[in-house]
Amino acid sequence: MHERQHPSTIAVTSGRPARDADAPINQPIVPASTFHAGGELGYAREGNPSAEALETALGELEGGTAVVFSSGMAAANAILDQFPVGTRILAPTHLYTGVAGRLKELAERGIISLTTVEVADTNLVIEALAEADVLWLESPTNPMMEIADLKTCLAAAKNAEPPVISVVDNTFATPVAQRPLELGADYVFHSVTKMISGHSDLLMGAVICATPELTEATRVRRILLGAMPSPFDCFLALRGLRTLFLRFDKAQSNAQYIAGKLAAHEKVNRVRYPGWGSMISIEVEGDADSVSEAATLWTYATSLGGVESLLERRRRWAFESELVPQNLIRLSLGIEHPEDLWDDLDQALNGISPAR
Ligand SMILES: Cc1ncc(COP(=O)(O)O)c(C=O)c1O
Repeated sequence: MHERQHPSTIAVTSGRPARDADAPINQPIVPASTFHAGGELGYAREGNPSAEALETALGELEGGTAVVFSSGMAAANAILDQFPVGTRILAPTHLYTGVAGRLKELAERGIISLTTVEVADTNLVIEALAEADVLWLESPTNPMMEIADLKTCLAAAKNAEPPVISVVDNTFATPVAQRPLELGADYVFHSVTKMISGHSDLLMGAVICATPELTEATRVRRILLGAMPSPFDCFLALRGLRTLFLRFDKAQSNAQYIAGKLAAHEKVNRVRYPGWGSMISIEVEGDADSVSEAATLWTYATSLGGVESLLERRRRWAFESELVPQNLIRLSLGIEHPEDLWDDLDQALNGISPAR
Protein backbone atom coordinates (compact mmCIF):
# COMPACT_ATOMS: atom_id res chain seq x y z
CA MET A 1 0.00 0.00 0.00
CA HIS A 2 2.81 2.38 0.94
CA GLU A 3 5.28 1.20 -1.68
CA ARG A 4 5.86 4.61 -3.22
CA GLN A 5 5.98 6.55 0.03
CA HIS A 6 9.17 7.53 1.83
CA PRO A 7 9.72 6.04 5.29
CA SER A 8 9.29 9.45 6.95
CA THR A 9 5.82 9.66 5.37
CA ILE A 10 4.96 6.10 6.43
CA ALA A 11 5.81 7.06 10.03
CA VAL A 12 3.00 9.63 9.79
CA THR A 13 0.41 7.77 7.71
CA SER A 14 0.64 4.16 8.84
CA GLY A 15 -1.51 2.53 11.53
CA ARG A 16 -4.46 4.91 11.17
CA PRO A 17 -8.17 3.97 11.03
CA ALA A 18 -9.82 3.88 7.58
CA ARG A 19 -10.71 7.33 6.16
CA ASP A 20 -14.45 6.97 6.69
CA ALA A 21 -16.67 9.92 7.48
CA ASP A 22 -16.50 10.74 11.20
CA ALA A 23 -13.88 8.05 11.82
CA PRO A 24 -11.22 9.24 14.29
CA ILE A 25 -7.84 9.95 12.65
CA ASN A 26 -6.02 8.22 15.49
CA GLN A 27 -6.69 4.70 16.70
CA PRO A 28 -8.63 5.23 19.95
CA ILE A 29 -7.44 3.58 23.14
CA VAL A 30 -9.68 0.62 23.97
CA PRO A 31 -9.36 -0.19 27.69
CA ALA A 32 -10.84 -3.70 27.76
CA SER A 33 -9.44 -7.00 28.96
CA THR A 34 -11.94 -8.98 26.93
CA PHE A 35 -14.10 -8.51 23.83
CA HIS A 36 -17.52 -9.72 22.71
CA ALA A 37 -17.23 -13.10 21.02
CA GLY A 38 -17.64 -13.59 17.30
CA GLY A 39 -14.89 -11.30 15.99
CA GLU A 40 -11.12 -11.36 15.72
CA LEU A 41 -10.35 -9.97 19.18
CA GLY A 42 -10.83 -12.38 22.04
CA TYR A 43 -8.81 -11.67 25.15
CA ALA A 44 -6.52 -8.66 25.61
CA ARG A 45 -3.38 -10.74 26.34
CA GLU A 46 -3.61 -11.78 22.69
CA GLY A 47 -3.87 -8.26 21.27
CA ASN A 48 -5.58 -4.90 21.41
CA PRO A 49 -6.44 -2.37 18.67
CA SER A 50 -3.77 0.14 19.78
CA ALA A 51 -1.07 -2.55 19.64
CA GLU A 52 -2.21 -3.54 16.15
CA ALA A 53 -2.00 0.07 14.94
CA LEU A 54 1.54 0.39 16.29
CA GLU A 55 2.48 -2.98 14.78
CA THR A 56 1.25 -1.89 11.37
CA ALA A 57 3.46 1.20 11.46
CA LEU A 58 6.55 -0.54 12.86
CA GLY A 59 6.20 -3.43 10.42
CA GLU A 60 6.01 -1.10 7.43
CA LEU A 61 8.98 0.92 8.63
CA GLU A 62 11.24 -2.10 9.19
CA GLY A 63 9.96 -4.07 6.20
CA GLY A 64 8.45 -7.03 8.06
CA THR A 65 5.65 -7.95 10.47
CA ALA A 66 5.82 -6.47 13.96
CA VAL A 67 4.77 -7.95 17.29
CA VAL A 68 4.92 -5.53 20.23
CA PHE A 69 5.91 -6.44 23.78
CA SER A 70 5.78 -4.97 27.27
CA SER A 71 9.54 -4.15 27.20
CA GLY A 72 12.60 -4.52 25.01
CA MET A 73 13.79 -7.38 27.22
CA ALA A 74 10.45 -9.16 26.79
CA ALA A 75 10.95 -8.83 23.02
CA ALA A 76 14.48 -10.26 23.22
CA ASN A 77 13.30 -13.12 25.42
CA ALA A 78 10.44 -13.95 23.05
CA ILE A 79 13.05 -14.52 20.32
CA LEU A 80 15.39 -16.52 22.59
CA ASP A 81 12.48 -18.68 23.70
CA GLN A 82 12.01 -19.92 20.13
CA PHE A 83 15.42 -21.61 19.91
CA PRO A 84 15.71 -25.31 20.77
CA VAL A 85 17.81 -26.42 23.75
CA GLY A 86 21.46 -26.62 22.73
CA THR A 87 21.29 -23.76 20.17
CA ARG A 88 24.75 -22.28 19.56
CA ILE A 89 24.46 -18.47 19.73
CA LEU A 90 27.19 -16.18 18.44
CA ALA A 91 26.90 -12.73 20.05
CA PRO A 92 28.96 -9.52 20.33
CA THR A 93 31.57 -9.35 23.11
CA HIS A 94 30.02 -6.02 24.11
CA LEU A 95 26.27 -5.65 23.98
CA TYR A 96 23.40 -4.26 26.03
CA THR A 97 23.94 -5.51 29.56
CA GLY A 98 20.42 -6.94 30.00
CA VAL A 99 20.64 -9.13 26.91
CA ALA A 100 24.25 -10.04 27.76
CA GLY A 101 23.14 -11.13 31.24
CA ARG A 102 20.28 -13.21 29.87
CA LEU A 103 22.51 -14.96 27.31
CA LYS A 104 25.07 -15.71 30.03
CA GLU A 105 22.42 -17.09 32.34
CA LEU A 106 20.95 -19.33 29.62
CA ALA A 107 24.46 -20.60 28.81
CA GLU A 108 25.25 -21.30 32.48
CA ARG A 109 22.04 -23.30 32.76
CA GLY A 110 23.02 -25.34 29.72
CA ILE A 111 20.06 -24.14 27.65
CA ILE A 112 22.19 -22.53 24.94
CA SER A 113 25.90 -22.47 24.17
CA LEU A 114 27.34 -19.00 23.81
CA THR A 115 30.34 -17.75 21.84
CA THR A 116 31.26 -14.07 21.76
CA VAL A 117 33.02 -12.19 18.99
CA GLU A 118 34.28 -8.67 18.29
CA VAL A 119 31.48 -7.57 15.95
CA ALA A 120 33.51 -4.80 14.35
CA ASP A 121 35.89 -7.49 12.97
CA THR A 122 33.85 -8.85 10.08
CA ASN A 123 36.28 -11.68 9.26
CA LEU A 124 36.09 -12.97 12.83
CA VAL A 125 32.29 -12.94 12.68
CA ILE A 126 32.25 -14.84 9.39
CA GLU A 127 34.75 -17.44 10.64
CA ALA A 128 32.76 -17.99 13.83
CA LEU A 129 29.53 -18.59 11.87
CA ALA A 130 30.76 -22.11 11.08
CA GLU A 131 30.09 -23.07 14.73
CA ALA A 132 26.84 -21.12 15.16
CA ASP A 133 23.11 -21.70 14.74
CA VAL A 134 22.16 -18.11 15.57
CA LEU A 135 23.96 -14.81 14.90
CA TRP A 136 22.86 -12.21 17.46
CA LEU A 137 23.89 -8.67 16.50
CA GLU A 138 23.63 -5.21 17.97
CA SER A 139 25.01 -2.24 16.04
CA PRO A 140 26.01 0.28 17.29
CA THR A 141 26.70 -1.67 20.48
CA ASN A 142 25.59 -0.31 23.84
CA PRO A 143 27.64 1.40 25.30
CA MET A 144 30.90 0.74 23.43
CA MET A 145 29.54 2.06 20.11
CA GLU A 146 31.14 -0.57 17.86
CA ILE A 147 29.70 -0.98 14.38
CA ALA A 148 29.10 -4.34 12.70
CA ASP A 149 29.16 -4.61 8.92
CA LEU A 150 25.53 -5.71 8.88
CA LYS A 151 25.35 -6.19 5.13
CA THR A 152 28.29 -8.61 4.98
CA CYS A 153 27.56 -10.42 8.25
CA LEU A 154 23.85 -10.94 7.51
CA ALA A 155 24.58 -12.14 3.96
CA ALA A 156 27.18 -14.59 5.32
CA ALA A 157 24.66 -15.92 7.85
CA LYS A 158 22.00 -16.37 5.19
CA ASN A 159 24.38 -18.09 2.77
CA ALA A 160 25.91 -20.43 5.38
CA GLU A 161 25.19 -24.15 4.98
CA PRO A 162 22.86 -24.65 6.80
CA PRO A 163 21.75 -21.01 7.11
CA VAL A 164 22.45 -19.28 10.43
CA ILE A 165 19.38 -17.51 11.91
CA SER A 166 20.10 -13.81 12.44
CA VAL A 167 18.77 -11.35 15.00
CA VAL A 168 19.55 -7.61 15.09
CA ASP A 169 18.91 -5.26 18.00
CA ASN A 170 18.10 -2.05 16.10
CA THR A 171 17.42 0.10 19.17
CA PHE A 172 20.29 2.58 18.68
CA ALA A 173 20.04 2.92 14.89
CA THR A 174 16.23 2.76 14.45
CA PRO A 175 14.72 2.14 10.99
CA VAL A 176 15.69 5.73 10.13
CA ALA A 177 19.34 4.71 9.86
CA GLN A 178 19.22 1.01 8.98
CA ARG A 179 16.70 -1.70 8.09
CA PRO A 180 18.34 -5.05 8.79
CA LEU A 181 15.46 -7.14 7.40
CA GLU A 182 16.28 -5.70 3.96
CA LEU A 183 19.84 -6.97 4.46
CA GLY A 184 18.67 -10.51 5.20
CA ALA A 185 18.04 -10.54 8.97
CA ASP A 186 15.36 -12.95 10.23
CA TYR A 187 14.39 -10.93 13.31
CA VAL A 188 14.86 -7.26 14.23
CA PHE A 189 14.00 -6.13 17.71
CA HIS A 190 13.73 -2.84 19.56
CA SER A 191 13.50 -1.39 22.94
CA VAL A 192 10.55 0.81 21.90
CA THR A 193 11.16 2.49 25.28
CA LYS A 194 13.92 4.45 23.57
CA MET A 195 14.05 6.42 20.30
CA ILE A 196 10.95 4.86 18.70
CA SER A 197 8.59 6.23 21.38
CA GLY A 198 11.03 9.01 22.20
CA HIS A 199 9.65 10.68 25.32
CA SER A 200 10.91 8.57 28.24
CA ASP A 201 7.35 7.90 29.36
CA LEU A 202 6.83 4.17 28.77
CA LEU A 203 8.47 0.74 28.58
CA MET A 204 7.87 -1.30 25.46
CA GLY A 205 9.55 -3.62 22.96
CA ALA A 206 8.94 -4.95 19.48
CA VAL A 207 10.08 -7.87 17.33
CA ILE A 208 9.80 -7.43 13.58
CA CYS A 209 9.92 -10.72 11.68
CA ALA A 210 10.92 -11.57 8.12
CA THR A 211 8.42 -14.40 7.56
CA PRO A 212 4.84 -15.32 8.58
CA GLU A 213 6.15 -18.43 10.38
CA LEU A 214 8.48 -16.38 12.59
CA THR A 215 5.71 -13.84 13.23
CA GLU A 216 3.34 -16.56 14.35
CA ALA A 217 5.97 -18.14 16.62
CA THR A 218 6.72 -14.70 18.11
CA ARG A 219 3.01 -13.95 18.68
CA VAL A 220 2.53 -17.27 20.44
CA ARG A 221 5.44 -16.41 22.77
CA ARG A 222 3.84 -13.09 23.63
CA ILE A 223 0.59 -14.81 24.59
CA LEU A 224 2.28 -17.59 26.56
CA LEU A 225 4.84 -15.37 28.27
CA GLY A 226 2.13 -12.78 29.04
CA ALA A 227 4.15 -9.87 27.69
CA MET A 228 1.40 -7.77 26.08
CA PRO A 229 1.82 -3.98 26.38
CA SER A 230 -1.11 -1.86 27.57
CA PRO A 231 -3.35 -0.03 25.06
CA PHE A 232 -2.38 3.29 26.62
CA ASP A 233 1.36 2.65 26.20
CA CYS A 234 0.80 1.52 22.60
CA PHE A 235 -1.08 4.75 21.92
CA LEU A 236 1.76 6.83 23.37
CA ALA A 237 4.41 4.86 21.44
CA LEU A 238 2.58 5.35 18.14
CA ARG A 239 2.18 9.05 18.86
CA GLY A 240 5.92 9.22 19.50
CA LEU A 241 6.68 7.28 16.33
CA ARG A 242 4.92 9.97 14.26
CA THR A 243 7.86 12.32 14.94
CA LEU A 244 10.65 9.70 14.86
CA PHE A 245 12.30 11.06 11.74
CA LEU A 246 12.27 14.68 12.96
CA ARG A 247 13.61 13.71 16.37
CA PHE A 248 16.25 11.41 14.93
CA ASP A 249 17.55 14.09 12.55
CA LYS A 250 17.77 16.71 15.28
CA ALA A 251 19.31 14.38 17.87
CA GLN A 252 21.82 13.19 15.27
CA SER A 253 22.86 16.70 14.26
CA ASN A 254 23.22 17.55 17.97
CA ALA A 255 25.37 14.44 18.44
CA GLN A 256 27.58 15.36 15.49
CA TYR A 257 28.09 18.87 16.89
CA ILE A 258 28.79 17.67 20.44
CA ALA A 259 31.11 14.84 19.29
CA GLY A 260 33.21 17.38 17.38
CA LYS A 261 33.50 19.61 20.47
CA LEU A 262 34.29 16.65 22.73
CA ALA A 263 37.13 15.50 20.49
CA ALA A 264 38.95 18.78 21.24
CA HIS A 265 38.27 18.83 25.01
CA GLU A 266 41.31 18.31 27.23
CA LYS A 267 39.39 16.28 29.85
CA VAL A 268 38.15 13.79 27.24
CA ASN A 269 40.53 10.93 26.42
CA ARG A 270 38.36 9.20 23.87
CA VAL A 271 35.17 9.85 21.93
CA ARG A 272 33.27 6.81 20.70
CA TYR A 273 30.95 8.06 17.97
CA PRO A 274 30.44 6.40 14.58
CA GLY A 275 29.58 9.73 12.91
CA TRP A 276 25.82 9.12 12.82
CA GLY A 277 23.00 8.43 15.26
CA SER A 278 22.17 10.06 18.57
CA MET A 279 24.42 8.17 20.99
CA ILE A 280 28.00 9.01 22.03
CA SER A 281 30.26 7.41 24.62
CA ILE A 282 33.27 9.24 26.04
CA GLU A 283 36.12 8.28 28.32
CA VAL A 284 37.08 11.11 30.63
CA GLU A 285 40.13 12.13 32.65
CA GLY A 286 38.98 12.09 36.28
CA ASP A 287 35.82 11.17 38.17
CA ALA A 288 33.13 10.48 35.59
CA ASP A 289 30.32 10.59 38.19
CA SER A 290 31.24 14.18 39.04
CA VAL A 291 30.54 15.17 35.42
CA SER A 292 27.03 13.67 35.55
CA GLU A 293 26.40 15.30 38.94
CA ALA A 294 27.54 18.75 37.75
CA ALA A 295 25.27 18.80 34.68
CA THR A 296 22.28 21.13 35.00
CA LEU A 297 20.68 20.92 31.53
CA TRP A 298 21.62 17.32 30.77
CA THR A 299 19.73 14.90 32.99
CA TYR A 300 21.73 12.45 35.08
CA ALA A 301 19.68 9.30 34.44
CA THR A 302 19.92 5.97 32.71
CA SER A 303 18.12 5.12 29.44
CA LEU A 304 18.31 6.89 26.10
CA GLY A 305 16.43 8.01 23.01
CA GLY A 306 14.16 10.63 24.59
CA VAL A 307 13.75 14.28 23.59
CA GLU A 308 15.80 15.29 26.64
CA SER A 309 19.57 14.68 26.72
CA LEU A 310 20.73 12.15 29.32
CA LEU A 311 24.12 11.07 30.59
CA GLU A 312 25.53 8.54 33.01
CA ARG A 313 28.70 6.62 33.86
CA ARG A 314 27.75 3.10 32.85
CA ARG A 315 29.88 1.29 35.43
CA ARG A 316 27.84 2.91 38.21
CA TRP A 317 25.67 -0.18 37.64
CA ALA A 318 27.10 -3.31 39.22
CA PHE A 319 25.67 -5.42 36.39
CA GLU A 320 27.44 -3.51 33.59
CA SER A 321 30.21 -5.51 31.92
CA GLU A 322 33.71 -5.28 33.40
CA LEU A 323 34.91 -4.75 29.83
CA VAL A 324 33.33 -1.27 29.83
CA PRO A 325 35.91 1.28 31.09
CA GLN A 326 35.22 2.72 34.57
CA ASN A 327 35.48 6.27 33.20
CA LEU A 328 33.07 5.77 30.27
CA ILE A 329 30.08 8.16 30.17
CA ARG A 330 27.22 7.34 27.80
CA LEU A 331 25.50 10.37 26.30
CA SER A 332 22.03 10.24 24.75
CA LEU A 333 21.36 13.31 22.65
CA GLY A 334 17.96 14.93 22.75
CA ILE A 335 16.53 17.79 20.72
CA GLU A 336 17.62 20.84 22.75
CA HIS A 337 19.74 23.58 21.17
CA PRO A 338 23.27 22.22 20.60
CA GLU A 339 25.01 25.31 22.04
CA ASP A 340 23.09 25.04 25.30
CA LEU A 341 23.98 21.35 25.49
CA TRP A 342 27.64 22.11 24.87
CA ASP A 343 27.80 24.97 27.39
CA ASP A 344 26.48 22.69 30.12
CA LEU A 345 28.64 19.69 29.22
CA ASP A 346 31.73 21.89 28.89
CA GLN A 347 31.26 23.40 32.37
CA ALA A 348 30.63 19.94 33.84
CA LEU A 349 33.80 18.55 32.21
CA ASN A 350 35.89 21.56 33.24
CA GLY A 351 34.89 21.06 36.87
CA ILE A 352 35.64 17.31 36.86
CA SER A 353 37.02 16.00 40.18
CA PRO A 354 40.12 13.81 40.29
CA ALA A 355 39.41 10.07 39.92
CA ARG A 356 37.86 8.64 43.14
C1 LIG B 1 20.25 -1.72 22.98
C2 LIG B 1 19.17 -2.12 23.94
N1 LIG B 1 18.47 -3.24 23.73
C3 LIG B 1 17.50 -3.64 24.57
C4 LIG B 1 17.20 -2.93 25.72
C5 LIG B 1 16.15 -3.44 26.66
O1 LIG B 1 15.00 -2.67 26.56
P1 LIG B 1 13.93 -2.40 27.75
O2 LIG B 1 14.65 -1.59 28.79
O3 LIG B 1 12.81 -1.69 27.07
O4 LIG B 1 13.53 -3.73 28.30
C6 LIG B 1 17.90 -1.75 25.98
C7 LIG B 1 17.62 -0.96 27.20
O5 LIG B 1 18.40 -0.11 27.59
C8 LIG B 1 18.91 -1.33 25.07
O6 LIG B 1 19.63 -0.21 25.27
